[in-house]
Formats: sequence, structure tokens, C-alpha cells
Amino acid sequence: MEKFEYFSGIPEVGIVPRAPHAGPLMRHVYEQEHGRGGFAGKVSHTYHLYPPTNWLPEESRLLDGAGFAPHWESPLRPVGGVHHALGVLTPEAPRDVYRGMGRLIANATAAMNVTAPAAPMDYFFEHHSATLVFFVHEGSGTLETTFGPIAYRKGDFLIIPKGITHRFECDQGPQYYWVYESFAGDPEKAEAVTTGQFLTHSRSDYKFPRSLDTRNEAGRFEIVSKTDGTYARRVHPTHPFDAVGWRGTYLPYRFAVEDVRPLVADRSHVPPSGHTVFILPGCYLCVFTVRSAEKEGLWVPFFHNNLDYCETLGYHVGRFFSRGGVFSEGMVSVHPVGFPHGPHPKALAALLDDKRPQVFEEVGIMADFANPAKISNFALGLSRPDYMASWSGYTTEPRFLHDPGRLAKVLRLAERLADARDKLRPAGSEDEGR
Ligand SMILES: [Fe+2]
Repeated sequence: MEKFEYFSGIPEVGIVPRAPHAGPLMRHVYEQEHGRGGFAGKVSHTYHLYPPTNWLPEESRLLDGAGFAPHWESPLRPVGGVHHALGVLTPEAPRDVYRGMGRLIANATAAMNVTAPAAPMDYFFEHHSATLVFFVHEGSGTLETTFGPIAYRKGDFLIIPKGITHRFECDQGPQYYWVYESFAGDPEKAEAVTTGQFLTHSRSDYKFPRSLDTRNEAGRFEIVSKTDGTYARRVHPTHPFDAVGWRGTYLPYRFAVEDVRPLVADRSHVPPSGHTVFILPGCYLCVFTVRSAEKEGLWVPFFHNNLDYCETLGYHVGRFFSRGGVFSEGMVSVHPVGFPHGPHPKALAALLDDKRPQVFEEVGIMADFANPAKISNFALGLSRPDYMASWSGYTTEPRFLHDPGRLAKVLRLAERLADARDKLRPAGSEDEGR
């Protein structure tokens, strides 16, 4: 070892040349560039024992997409005018992570899918038209990648950049993942200029692989790739994870939902945008996690029309208070662009009766899709027919019904409260109690 060690400034692991494309090592290992933006954007280099193009031509072929993943390209239809509550997927047959993928919602640049894998992957996978964002609702395992393995468990996001060779090795037991595809760019960390880079999470929460598990193995190794709706298979005579080193910033990583440290406010309601963790082209992902309830402000969601996005919310764990008991873990709500919604009657009644919880004991993953977004036939097959009726308390409970005297009551109240201000007197101050 030299007397002093240095960081290079760019992450690297294992055996790498002094710089990309340069140095004597180039004659001993095979460099592969994973480049975005026509090689002018984000990039990583991997260094292989064997040429990455050593496929067996006689075994390379296109696959029948409908046979490989029958529900991934489920036909899309317009969505609007009705809210959907999607039940938990029960696969008709045990399939692996990708063969069992079912499309739920999509627009031109992003999509949401669900998969409940119950069979091992006997191939490697590359998505050639999207970066994948997995959310592990249930289960655990190891995501094996060219850059090294990533262990994951319930509550983890897994980001798999477009084109990266990988394979899921799932542990025993139930597995259930929501899978977001970003067709036009990678997820970027969300942060507000006024709250800075450590809210609501830090880049140091992203866990990149650091241990290579280099395989110098001969055999028959299948890689399935997906480009839009086209699936192709190629077969290599050496193991695809033969990298001895890598350098770059275009990497797979894990991000744990426990590392979201939410913004909370005592005297106002934090809107959904305050809970955004990732921004994708045409989509944003928010995490509603365990947090203190607002004390004086509105602590249930306001009634709202999202005028540009179709909202999806995956219910991960906990009690989903604002939904009035309609949703259980694993379900997904779909609220189309522009269509009003908000707290269910039970939740609003609790607000009116001042039954504020101390803490919201819930974790939900929201992904909103810029309009025009569409819903799939597969999703409609999971849709509960009675969801629109779940707001019916607003037409049956006396406190919400028409009252001829209501306008006069509100006018009287408004008069009385016109000069009311928030209490700002610190305890013990001379103005206390005034
Ligand atoms: Fe909403």
C-alpha cells in the first residue's frame, strides 16, 4: 500500500483501470459502458472476464410476450368519473417476478404494476426501455446485479436502472411487490429549496452494492430483455456476473421506507407534495409514513381535485385512518384526474368531534401519473364494485345532510370567529391566558 490513500471521487469497487478506456488493464479485462443520454449522460463501467457479447447466435430469439408475461401489457383504457379500490392480487398460477407482472396504470412515461412471485427466476433480466422502481410490500430476498448483490426486505425500494442485468433470488414465504416503470428518465430525489437535502431523506440513505460476487462459470445462461412490448432471449456460455470491478454513478440501489423522516406541522396540513421522495418524468412517488398528527390545523386530508394527475395509493402497513376502514394492507386506490375525493365520512366525523389521534400509524406509497393516464383491464379485474359507495355517509348521516338553518348558523359562527387568531403565547409568558 502507498503511504497515503485517496478517494477518486467516483464510486468504484474491485479491479478498475485508472480511467475509463485507458491504461494497460484494457488488454486484460473487457470494459462495458452503461451510458444514458447517448453516452453524454449518467454512466458506469463494468470490467468483465469475458466479452459481454459472447451470446450463442443459434439460441437468440424473440419471445411470445403474451406467453412470457401475459398481464404486463394488459390493454389500457381511459379512466375517469369513478374511483377504484383494487383488491390484492391472487395469481392464478405460481409465476416469477417478471412472468407474473400485471400492469395497473400507465401514461406515456411511467407505469405501475404489481407482482406476487411464487416461482424462482431461471433467467436473468434486462429492461431496455425503463428504469424500475420496486417497492417490497411483502417478502425479502437478494437482488443480484452486475454490480453486486443487494439484500432486501419488506419496506424497501429497489431501483434498477434501465439496462442493468439482474435476477431476483426471493426468500421463502409470500412476496408482493409494487413495480413502477420510468420510461423517460431515472427517479430523482425530491427536495425543496427551503428544506434542503436531508428532508425528507438523505442521499446517504441510498445503499449501493459494495461487494462483488464474481462468477467465473461456464454453462448456459439465459438473459431475457424487454423493449416496450417486445421480449427477447439470448444465451451466453459464461455467467453474466463475471465483472471483477466497476466504476460510475449509474447504479442499482436500495432505499428503506424507514429512512423517510417526514415533514410534520403542528398548525397546518402538510400537503401530499411535502411527502414526495422521488420525481420521475410524468410521475411522482410519495411516502406517507408514521408521523405525528397535526395539532391545530386540519389533520385529515382536505377534499381535493388533483387536476393534472391520476393518483394511486398502495396501502403498505398500518391503519389507514383517512380512508375510514375501507382499505386493508396490499390494496391500491386509483383516483382519476380531476375527480373529487378526500376523507371518508368516519374520518371527517372524527375531525369534527375533535378525536385527534396522536400519531398516524400508517405507511402508504403514493404514485401519481400525469394525465392522460389509463387503467388496464387487469386492474379493472381487481376493482371492487362498491368503492364509490364508501362515501355514502355524506348522504345518510344526519350531520352531513341538508339543514335549512345551516347558512344562518355558519354566518353567526363566522361573525364570532372573525378576529380569532392562533394561540402563540409560550407557556409561562405574561400574556398567557389572556
Ligand atoms: Fe388524493
